[in-house]
Amino acid sequence: MNSSPPHCTSVSRAFVRGSSPPRPPPGAARWGNFNNYYRFHDTLSRVQLLPAADWFRTHLQDSHPSPIASRPSAPTRLVALDIGCNSGDLTQHIARHFVSEDIPLDILGIDIDAHLIQRAQDQVAQPNVRFECLDFMSSESSSRIQPYLTERGRSRFDVIFAFSVSMWIHLNHGDAGLSTFLGRMAAMSRYIVLEPQPWRCYQTAARRMRKLKEPEFEHMKHLSCQDELSLTKLLDELYARHNLKLIQDLGTNDWNRRLLLLECPSAMSVHR
Ligand SMILES: C[S@@+](CC[C@H](N)C(=O)[O-])C[C@H]1O[C@@H](n2cnc3c(N)ncnc32)[C@H](O)[C@@H]1O
Repeated sequence: MNSSPPHCTSVSRAFVRGSSPPRPPPGAARWGNFNNYYRFHDTLSRVQLLPAADWFRTHLQDSHPSPIASRPSAPTRLVALDIGCNSGDLTQHIARHFVSEDIPLDILGIDIDAHLIQRAQDQVAQPNVRFECLDFMSSESSSRIQPYLTERGRSRFDVIFAFSVSMWIHLNHGDAGLSTFLGRMAAMSRYIVLEPQPWRCYQTAARRMRKLKEPEFEHMKHLSCQDELSLTKLLDELYARHNLKLIQDLGTNDWNRRLLLLECPSAMSVHR
């Protein structure tokens, strides 16, 4: 049984086409790398929860002069990262949303699964959207992402989107991995839009593995939380550890997942 991730260490199409392992059986997607995710999870109900365009104008554009913004009437471009972008549908919807709100945006979508990234690259329709295959938890992730920021004259992202990916990081890397995940995002961005999965999703994921006779998530029984209350407590502790400030609960989507807006320490130093 192959339980290793459908990793790619290179973003080249040749690598993606040439050496990715076969798809997991339907449902046995250990990294949440479901093949037809967007057939069952619409993107609109999540995009609708994003802060209004005026919020971005006030909190991001005005306080972040860039070479483009220094020309009097030119708007600042926001630079964003979408972690765990799957086949890219939500990333592209976010990009269209910002453009329709007259906020120019460059967005990089990354995913651990080479096949999904291949599909995302094949479907990309906007020049401001890019996809790369990358494991955000790998030791090289920061150095692989940095050139994208450097090309845009930035040292960090304006906003990182992490929709429905925290549980997969937690299940595959344990409490320490979840802390690393949040800490890395905190160091790399000014704001984070986080959609953490509730505890019942952890139980569903574990049940699915058992049903398919796949190996269990090895960290599951060692997690410091084993119910919704203790998961919320753990997340709150980790936000505090990484100086992340919860500034807005943006609401819940169609299938009852909360969307949170967190401010990173770097954003606080810009505003205060
Ligand atoms: C459930 S899907 C969510 C897709 C998308 N963010 C959304 O909510 O519409 C989770 C995605 O995270 C990706 N993923 C899991 N662990 C990852 C990691 N360490 N680095 C990058 N992507 C990861 C999976 O391959 C999968 O496509």
